[in-house]
Amino acid sequence: MKDSKVLKINPDVSWVGVLDYDIVTFDVVMETKYGTTYNSYFINAEKKTIIDTVKLQFWDTYLEKLKTITDPTKIDYIICNHTEPDHSGCISNLLELSPDLTVIGSGQALNYLQEMIGKTFKSKKVKDGDIIDLGNKKIRVIGAPNLHWPDTIYTYLEEDKILFTCDSFGAHYCHEEMYDDKTPNYDEAFAYYFEVILRPFSKFMLKAIEKIRPLEISAVCPGHGPILRSDWKKYIDISEQKATEYLKILENKNNRVLLAYVSAYGYTAEMAKQIAAGIAEAGSFEIDLVDIENILLGELEEKIVMSNAILIGSPTINQNTLLPVYKLFSLINPIRDKGKPAAVFGSYGWSGEAVKLIEDHLRNLKLKIYMEGMAEKFYPYDGKSERLAEFGKAFGEKMLEEVAENE
Ligand code: FEO
Repeated sequence: MKDSKVLKINPDVSWVGVLDYDIVTFDVVMETKYGTTYNSYFINAEKKTIIDTVKLQFWDTYLEKLKTITDPTKIDYIICNHTEPDHSGCISNLLELSPDLTVIGSGQALNYLQEMIGKTFKSKKVKDGDIIDLGNKKIRVIGAPNLHWPDTIYTYLEEDKILFTCDSFGAHYCHEEMYDDKTPNYDEAFAYYFEVILRPFSKFMLKAIEKIRPLEISAVCPGHGPILRSDWKKYIDISEQKATEYLKILENKNNRVLLAYVSAYGYTAEMAKQIAAGIAEAGSFEIDLVDIENILLGELEEKIVMSNAILIGSPTINQNTLLPVYKLFSLINPIRDKGKPAAVFGSYGWSGEAVKLIEDHLRNLKLKIYMEGMAEKFYPYDGKSERLAEFGKAFGEKMLEEVAENE
């Protein structure tokens, strides 16, 4: 189906984004079963202004849409609220068409963009509280760092009372009607998007919400999913509530342990159970036992975030660990997870290299290896299972000691 829709949000502001029904995963790890949209907005002010663009692969569609409402060679400003390529992907092409246009963004955004597009361009750096003068209209800049990159700003079109928030208050949800009052209920997609993309930055979300609360708002225009012209308050409230809940969980997460394993024949899975029993003996822990093969990566990442210790189990196959464990490595964020207690275990037949190999990776990712890993030959029968329970118990006790020391 040809995507040619352009929406007039009001006489001067149009949606010129694109619909992506076919996307299966976003940022490689996030399932997008409802597709997504890349929202770009055009402001027909004296200074012709675009707010965010779309993913490069949709350039042809995007250009056709732009041509229906303006001359793309005569754009004055592109305001880049956030440089992730799903929003900045067409800036380079627009610069080819309009070499004199000025790209406006935060200092980080302009730096990132320079590295992304590799050519010089006219730019204007803005920060929280700055006003961008469009001639007959004004845009106020609201600093919103880390939502979802450090470069992010919101922009508020004062005369029209429209707030542009890029990833914030968005959702991976594609529906051609685009307005929140015309699309079916998409609360599930909104919640999932918040959890995967924004929840890790809840502290920043609350700060940004505090800044926008006093604004008079006619519509919130996010970078993905429906335009919030009716229910924007509901989605800001949901975001605030989820961010607050998450921060409370983080404050009280001293007892959350993630036991993530992959198991070829069930032997490592059995080890995981024995170790979990040992941890439970040490004290009151919430233990999350997860088979890495059977969980979406986005959900696994959430569990990593929500735990304050990680144990990883893997068999050794051909002197190596298995692909799901390498995927798990990709979800560990050393900035976020640095110092998190960790330990490794696994079953083996001829040799047990996986344990040492995983430990080395975890050290390189800045996790703290609490104790030497435990490799067991084939199945953990009696005797072996006691060792495993001891291993778990020792891990749990060490965690409790550390918590006590830090109190
Ligand atoms: Fe939709 Fe962080 O980009």
